[in-house]
Amino acid sequence: MRQPAHGRAGGKVILLGEHAVVYGRPALAAAVPLAVDARLEPGAGPRLVSDHADDPRGAELVAAAARATGLDPTRVVVHVRSDIPPGRGLGSSAALSVAVLRASAAAAGRTLSPAETLACGRDLERIFHGTPSGVDPAVAALGGCVRFVRGEPPEVALVRPGARLRLVVAWGDRPRSTGAAVGGLRARWEAARARYERLFDDVAAVVADGIAALERGDAAALGAAFDRNQALLETLGVSSPEVETLARHARVAGARGAKLTGGGAGGAVIAIADDADAVAAALQARAVDTLVVGIGDDVRIDGRMEA
Ligand code: MEV
Repeated sequence: MRQPAHGRAGGKVILLGEHAVVYGRPALAAAVPLAVDARLEPGAGPRLVSDHADDPRGAELVAAAARATGLDPTRVVVHVRSDIPPGRGLGSSAALSVAVLRASAAAAGRTLSPAETLACGRDLERIFHGTPSGVDPAVAALGGCVRFVRGEPPEVALVRPGARLRLVVAWGDRPRSTGAAVGGLRARWEAARARYERLFDDVAAVVADGIAALERGDAAALGAAFDRNQALLETLGVSSPEVETLARHARVAGARGAKLTGGGAGGAVIAIADDADAVAAALQARAVDTLVVGIGDDVRIDGRMEA
């Protein structure tokens, strides 16, 4: 086993299209500068040692990543450090999966291609969420800003050069489960497929408008797409009073549009704003954590953490 063996992968925000993406519609997602670092060492395994609360599925993840890269799972211990808050829809499970996979590949002396990382990251993410679309591991593996359709290779989404599209990400202190939100929607879809398929088509139209806005560098149109997407997410039943209040406060503070991001049912909110720092400050005053990112900034987290 080669030493030292490190792996790193980043979190994401879904700009538009979460949940409908599980049903084959496109989504637009972007990497954020928050990451998971993994360090693999020989020991009695499989075992995951985390700086967050230990997840019972950690050992399963370590074992699956070891098997996928040709290591003996009983001899693998992985230590992880993460600055992605878990359970907020910011891609912590996918980033963890890809970081552990990369550390395992490094220990096995293998270099994984982006396609292998994507395919394997998607399989590993299933340990955490029942029926994921694969959008989270795609961004964890590739970084950047991507248009994603389930089962197709992700496409790099073009952002007009020089457009200052500033995004505020805000999240409270209460984690929630993406798997539960996805499962709840599946039950509603099974009971009324035609209604939900129409709603997913409406989401797809909003995603197309949002991508066109991104390509033009049009913050107002992108903000309007955020608001329309949020209304549809509420109709789909995956929103919550907590995120709706945060989105409202962001709009009052000057955001051009705001919506939940990721699994919903709580978790994080994103807002597009000309004065993103002012919107972030208004949200921080409500005791939430915030991050300001430029959409299209070259956030690529695929390096190795310092020993
Ligand atoms: C989670 O970040 C996004 C969802 O659409 C689930 C998925 O696509 O796997 C809610």
